Amino acid sequence: MNLKPLEHLAIIMDGNGRWASLKRKPRVYGHVKGTKVAKQIITDCSRLGIKHLTLYAFSTENWFRPQAEVSFLMNILRRYLKRETSNLIKENIKFSIIGDMNRLPKDVVETVKESMLATSHCTGLHLVFAISYGSQQEITQAAKNLGKALLDGNLKLDEVTPEVFNRFLSSYPTPAPDLIIRTSGEKRLSNFLLWQAAYSEFYFTDKLWPDFTKDDLMQALDSFSLRKRRFGGVSENLENSLELNSGSNEVATH
Ligand code: IPE
Ligand code: IPE
Ligand code: MG
Repeated sequence: MNLKPLEHLAIIMDGNGRWASLKRKPRVYGHVKGTKVAKQIITDCSRLGIKHLTLYAFSTENWFRPQAEVSFLMNILRRYLKRETSNLIKENIKFSIIGDMNRLPKDVVETVKESMLATSHCTGLHLVFAISYGSQQEITQAAKNLGKALLDGNLKLDEVTPEVFNRFLSSYPTPAPDLIIRTSGEKRLSNFLLWQAAYSEFYFTDKLWPDFTKDDLMQALDSFSLRKRRFGGVSENLENSLELNSGSNEVATH
């Protein structure tokens, strides 16, 4: 099948803990396998020519998990970035993050900044990790920054439109996701890209993230290719048939 071009893919990588439990292993075992899968999927997306890939790796609410699990996840992130940055450069992948950096351990922030700087010249896939990310927090921060711009006289109230508001989000200037995949059978956004998902397509799979493969990715992309996106308008087919039936460009009103 010919794949429909897709500029931005976002993935909610869920189910690591359940995967490990099914194997009677501690939850963190699932995070280790999940990281390997993420590495592979990043390479696959890069080779498929996808322009932006956002991976939901750690939510604002995930801070409330047991301390040991949170520390383990921070360690994974540290190690991933230290080990993988040179590979990202080799693959021409530009790395960035969205989320509240202030809550991350200082050395992790430093590592994130180093990886961003080291890959800033890369022109291939743009890889975004959503870490310590919550969409409601992102929107609240955007509203605060917008309010400040109004108070400082850098913006007029009449100038505030959805496009202008969008520029205050931490995801800017990455375009909105065309497709959002969530693994593990859950069918919710869990505070992920609420604003940006206004016209995203969704793909849910029961596969747990550590079991997700390139074949699963291709199935999701195939499914996306069959979607008719209308953005509130009318589909091309519908438009064509109206034109054919009316015999002119005017749409019959009777
Ligand atoms: C997703 O897997 C990874 C993170 C949220 C960090 P989970 O850890 O949520 O695994 P389940 O959903 O409990 O199985
Ligand atoms: C969403 O998964 C966050 C990530 C995948 C990083 P959660 O496991 O935290 O979400 P809920 O609790 O099932 O909604
Ligand atoms: Mg989960």
